[in-house]
Amino acid sequence: MIPVLSLDNMKIDPWSSTTYQDYTRLRNEFGIQEFTEDLWKDLPNPHRLLRRGIVFGHRGFGIIHNAILKKKPWAILTGLMPSGKMHLGHKMVIDEVIYYQSIGADIFIAVADIEAYATRGYTMEETKDFALNEYIPNYIALGLKPEKCRIYFQSKHQDVKDLAYLLGKKVNWSQILATYGFNGSSNMTHIFSPLIQAGDILHVQLEKYGGIRPTLVPVGVDQDPHIRLSRDIAQAHRLYNVTVTKDNKIGVFVKVDKGIESLLNDAEKTLNSLKFTQLKRITDYKAIYINDAKEEDIPKIDETLARIEPKFGGYGFIQPSATFHRFITGLTGEKMSSSKPESAIFLTDSSNDAKKKIMNAKTGGAVTLKEQKKQGGKPSECMIYELFLYHLIEDDKELKNIYTSCKNGEQMCGNCKKYAAELIEKLLLDIQNKRKTATEKIKDYLS
Ligand code: TRP
Ligand code: SF4
Repeated sequence: MIPVLSLDNMKIDPWSSTTYQDYTRLRNEFGIQEFTEDLWKDLPNPHRLLRRGIVFGHRGFGIIHNAILKKKPWAILTGLMPSGKMHLGHKMVIDEVIYYQSIGADIFIAVADIEAYATRGYTMEETKDFALNEYIPNYIALGLKPEKCRIYFQSKHQDVKDLAYLLGKKVNWSQILATYGFNGSSNMTHIFSPLIQAGDILHVQLEKYGGIRPTLVPVGVDQDPHIRLSRDIAQAHRLYNVTVTKDNKIGVFVKVDKGIESLLNDAEKTLNSLKFTQLKRITDYKAIYINDAKEEDIPKIDETLARIEPKFGGYGFIQPSATFHRFITGLTGEKMSSSKPESAIFLTDSSNDAKKKIMNAKTGGAVTLKEQKKQGGKPSECMIYELFLYHLIEDDKELKNIYTSCKNGEQMCGNCKKYAAELIEKLLLDIQNKRKTATEKIKDYLS
């Protein structure tokens, strides 16, 4: 976690929530990389969710970073579960998507209707209603643009479904069982849904959808199992493997048993075009060793070789990258959840309802005013502060001021809540307004 602010030369971390420890553990246990400053600092107008450590982890963001800076094509694919009403927790992903759209990504959004049907007990008709009347209009109201943007339903996308079936060839049951903990009474549509999600994530690299290119999947950290599966699948279907060998050389290995000669020939030509000249080919090992390559060269070599794989009947998928964001806490201090309306602010809430929820929210204030003036408040345990941090305050200086004056006992919760209520009213009215014309625009987004 990046200490984003520093006070009195002491590094502090005003972005952390009470569950910060858990996010560190998550990273350590699952091998998620830390989303460090060097990954976002030089992006154009880095988004507040990136700046503030709310996006706390990633897998393979380096190649996305590189594509953005070098202005090369790249794609975003994410998905939504169309179940119930959309709240501030759901807004985060789309905030990120809109930011990435503004800096040049091709956007794809999967409506996970098959998954919602399989796991949430809705009919297909209901999931469609949720998507068309709730999620997509809100996405449009929040500022998603139709250019270079496709929203599709899993159940209607033949290429995604075909891929799901074909990609499953290199996934076995033990792997699924270990990753997802299914059991004998799990329904088959549910069991199959991770493969559909892999189809979602990888289909954007098919020729028809823009071809082989870095793809970023911005998600909540609960989606990491799907990310790992999709990355494994992408790798498993590759024809070439580029890696560091045991004796510390960079090697390109052909992974299949047919057409080895021509695969090696083309790899050689490709490596030459990348200006590597000290190549040693050992056909028996199906290998080319590159004596003038360094470990840092691997991503570039891998990407370039991926692009020639379709010629040999492969997919050439580049492993998809992912970022993970923290979950916003509910106003009550528990999880923000649609099933507990008092914990969540829905994008369709009236400003009055939202105000009431804010007034009842759990804060980091002391029991009495007197005590709070003396000891200060605890913004890092405050749901109002979290609203500012995630959604309501764009200016980092203003946020820092609130943080500091709360800690110093200058800021009182009553005023703070009033300010949050004003800001949320502005936000909700704006969304409400833009939603009025959103429905007629939906067709511009659907494929
Ligand atoms: N499984 C995701 C969820 O529960 C939805 C989803 C479907 C998704 N396909 C996706 C997310 C592809 C990211 C990428 O919300
Ligand atoms: Fe939260 Fe504001 Fe109260 Fe501080 S003063 S605890 S930030 S509501």
